[in-house]
Amino acid sequence: MKKQIFMLRWFGIMIMQLCFLLAGSSDDNISDSSAAVKLNAEDPEQVVIDNGIVQLTVSKPQGYVIGISYHGIDNVLETRHALHDRGYFDVVWNEPGKNSIAQRINGTHFSIVASDESQVEVSFVRTWTSSMQGTDVPINIDQRYVMRRGSSGFYSYAIFERPQSFPAVEVDQVRTVYKLQEHRFHYMAVSDNRQRFMPTMEDRESGQVLAYPEAVLLTLPSNEDFKGEVDDKYQYSCENKDNRVHGWISFDSKAPVGFWMITPSDEFRNAGPTKQDLTSHVGPITLSMFVSTHYGGKEVTMAFQEGETYKKVFGPVFVYLNSLSSNEDPHTLWPDAVQRMYKEARSWPYDFPHSRDFIPPTRRGSAIGRLIVQDRYNRGGRLLYGESAYVGLALPGSEGSWQRESKGYQFWTQADNKGYFMIKNVIPGHYNLFAWVPGFIGDYKHNNMITITSGSLIKLDSLVYSPPRNGSTLWEIGFPDRTAAEFYIPDPNPKFINKLYKEQPTNKFRQYGLWERYAALYPHNDLVYTVGVDRYDRDWFFAHVTRRIGNGVFQPTTWQIIFELKDNAIRGSYTLQLALASATHSQLQIWLNEEGDNPALFERVNMGEDNAIARHGIHGLYWLFSIDIPSDRLVKGRNTIYLRQSNATNPFQGVMYDYIRLERPPTLN
Ligand SMILES: *[C@@H]1O[C@H](CO)[C@@H](O)[C@H](O)[C@H]1NC(C)=O
Ligand SMILES: *[C@@H]1O[C@H](CO)[C@@H](O)[C@H](O)[C@H]1NC(C)=O
Repeated sequence: MKKQIFMLRWFGIMIMQLCFLLAGSSDDNISDSSAAVKLNAEDPEQVVIDNGIVQLTVSKPQGYVIGISYHGIDNVLETRHALHDRGYFDVVWNEPGKNSIAQRINGTHFSIVASDESQVEVSFVRTWTSSMQGTDVPINIDQRYVMRRGSSGFYSYAIFERPQSFPAVEVDQVRTVYKLQEHRFHYMAVSDNRQRFMPTMEDRESGQVLAYPEAVLLTLPSNEDFKGEVDDKYQYSCENKDNRVHGWISFDSKAPVGFWMITPSDEFRNAGPTKQDLTSHVGPITLSMFVSTHYGGKEVTMAFQEGETYKKVFGPVFVYLNSLSSNEDPHTLWPDAVQRMYKEARSWPYDFPHSRDFIPPTRRGSAIGRLIVQDRYNRGGRLLYGESAYVGLALPGSEGSWQRESKGYQFWTQADNKGYFMIKNVIPGHYNLFAWVPGFIGDYKHNNMITITSGSLIKLDSLVYSPPRNGSTLWEIGFPDRTAAEFYIPDPNPKFINKLYKEQPTNKFRQYGLWERYAALYPHNDLVYTVGVDRYDRDWFFAHVTRRIGNGVFQPTTWQIIFELKDNAIRGSYTLQLALASATHSQLQIWLNEEGDNPALFERVNMGEDNAIARHGIHGLYWLFSIDIPSDRLVKGRNTIYLRQSNATNPFQGVMYDYIRLERPPTLN
């Protein structure tokens, strides 16, 4: 019976996929009335592509976008910037052990890939040679621009390739950047509730730099309303899985116009769906981040050995432009951009890019299945649905390796409330299937390698995830979801607010300077949390940070968890499950009942560098430690766990806890 229901589900999902395929085949508004796409490549220094809606000008042979003309606006890009500084791809890289270099990708060879009435695709290639050693990133890069008939925008993508014998390199960042006209674009939108009028670049320049250069207090803004606000691009970050459309609106009364970066799939981004990254920010600037070390640190760099070969396609991403007649509300350009994003996502994978390295829908495969959770000692050890589990295919590795994996493609989905999942449009290759389930600690990895071939549908019978657990729960703090969002998030210092987040409890963590609120709340004594008395949403500060005691002087902090054992401890080994949502240069030491005892129950030095405290992330990388506690260390009555973060040379060192649980010793049954 169960099996039958399961088969029905599969069938349903397959029908759904079929519908997607049918609906998604061609998505542009190709009508007879739309003009043919025209390419003009005569000029020795630039290429112009025009479909009657948008006119795109790209420098030759570099491949910089120097002009985007739309809806009567000669150029939506900032013409005061040099030609190489308006629209471009760039990389940040270094030779191992050497300083990093930020570099525009500068094509040296232009070619026309395709040009007919319905589509133009052009290519700007930069080939690496050994004479470039040390000055240019050792990767061959092909930048592509595609314009289609009837389409209000254009596509771009980049193909990275390392043939044999290239030197070793670490690539920290790959992205595409657009800088818009400053006098037009003032309103930025990142999501339905994260949108506002933004300060200008000049406002930032006249402001006061705070704890790091990206954070600026606006002291003399052109718009008086912004005075006293903090601007920081990291306040507009978002997780890869949600980073699908963002951009700017020009409220020009005669011709309101929107400029949007649409990323229809995050398969090519690094470090999985929960990796956070930048979106748009003051400039006005709009980015599409493909690879970065933001919220992960060097642990998520893309590192190549000498001679290591490689090929990957980043994108295509879609630059979408929309407009209104003068009497309509410019805010409505945002929901229209969201609709367009869904349309692009439904058409993914695209069938029109000409590069043979971009794998079209017909050559991709899928995997479907169901995830079940068996959390021993919990709810009678019953089998539970892997409700809303994140399930993904990534390059083979150990459990959880996907969050530090930056080279391959990753394909993720979220299971439904019964744990059923379908991963569509997977590029052929060998993968591991990974998962994690909100409400449970740890990472799932399926034991068998998953091999996706063209057109294949892999069916995975009920997969069972047994999260780490050695015994029943004595107590727990927090909710295991890899974030610190459920803990106490303080009000920001009124001198350092972003008004956007004032009335948004779920975005409060994005305010500047919350790390300093700890010392304000706990000026002398550190946090003490009493199990059974305190509440984690009120009494557990979201980040275990240092305490500033003077100018540039910081102090380690030691938190205490106090709990009572009514009886003598049960003989055996208790387990402290310690899940961290973030760590930055932390020296975390844990003791039971004797603070400073040697050896400590647990100790890690210089753990993590995700920098999520400074970047207003509510999480960085996920860490899980299962710490044995022999029962003879526990006493009847009051016990204290000491959590000390001992590295205290700056305000950003520390950890965020995701969830802490003390388990009784295992029992036989
Ligand atoms: C707890 O479980 C882990 C593996 O999940 C094991 O290595 C450890 O020995 C267990 N501890 C006890 C006390 O059973
Ligand atoms: C403390 O942090 C610094 C960086 O801020 C790091 O270099 C050092 O290794 C850390 N020390 C310990 C003991 O964790």
